[in-house]
Amino acid sequence: MASTGMNISLGSKVAIITGAASGFGKAIAKAFLHAGAKVVACDINASMLEECHKELSPLGALHMVVADISLHDSAPNLVKEAVDHYGKLDILVNNAGIMDRFDPIGDIDIDFWDCVITTNLTAPARMSKYAVQEFLRHGEAAGTTAAGSNRGVIMNVGSINGFRGGCGGVAYVSAKHALVGLTRNTASSYSSKGIRCNIIMPGAMKTNIRVAYKDGFNEEGGAICQKLAEVNPGEVNLDRLGKLVAFACSDDTDYLNGAIISADHGWQAI
Ligand SMILES: NC(=O)c1ccc[n+]([C@@H]2O[C@H](COP(=O)([O-])OP(=O)(O)OC[C@H]3O[C@@H](n4cnc5c(N)ncnc54)[C@H](O)[C@@H]3O)[C@@H](O)[C@H]2O)c1
Repeated sequence: MASTGMNISLGSKVAIITGAASGFGKAIAKAFLHAGAKVVACDINASMLEECHKELSPLGALHMVVADISLHDSAPNLVKEAVDHYGKLDILVNNAGIMDRFDPIGDIDIDFWDCVITTNLTAPARMSKYAVQEFLRHGEAAGTTAAGSNRGVIMNVGSINGFRGGCGGVAYVSAKHALVGLTRNTASSYSSKGIRCNIIMPGAMKTNIRVAYKDGFNEEGGAICQKLAEVNPGEVNLDRLGKLVAFACSDDTDYLNGAIISADHGWQAI
């Protein structure tokens, strides 16, 4: 079949991608570099980030930053790093995330709840706060302030767990549901100022995320989730989904704002 010839263009864009050393974040970084973006790739895992740099740096402008996004200063520092290194910031992809261990509320260790909520919800909120401030500052300096002026884009990485209750533990499910709220409030608050915010909701992907629950897996919670796993139509291809994120962050989708984008072969629809 003939190709549609559709090109994804992020030329001249500067993007921060969190959790870029592995899995989905790495696939997004690859798609962004192929589309011409300059990428600031952040991850807590220094050795994986180093490996990722070796693999992806031939594709384009890539700046690696080892950072733990759950720490207070990481968000302002990362935004500053993008501006210092590439002169501006256009796109933030809040991808970094950790899984819980399928604990329901009666079993959850509240310190572990705090850890999952901090990484999966508070950190994206903090990153968004400083990114939005930079989008607004840069837009005003450039004299571009209206709706559709492409001042900045945030893509949050949600999950089927942002739609469904029985697919993960209470901490992960709560964080991913709340991320939808963060997305929609951000979209509605800044749509008239040329800033967009969307959320992608992947189904199952082959990544390293399951390492988190190797120890301390809640058998009862896991068995409940297994029922939904049994009707999963299939795994989502990382590289193809990375391309969708790149397209959704490009100026060609300047109409896309507050969108909750399912990407799960129809799993959440069941
Ligand atoms: N794998 C799946 O089936 C699946 C499904 C739906 C959604 N997701 C979401 O996709 C996103 C990416 O996860 P993945 O599946 O690629 O997992 P992954 O474990 O392969 O990658 C996550 C990356 O985030 C990094 N990270 C974790 N905590 C961090 C922190 N505090 N600071 C900086 N970096 C940190 C990790 O080091 C890792 O490189 C997550 O938000 C996850 O919830 C995954």
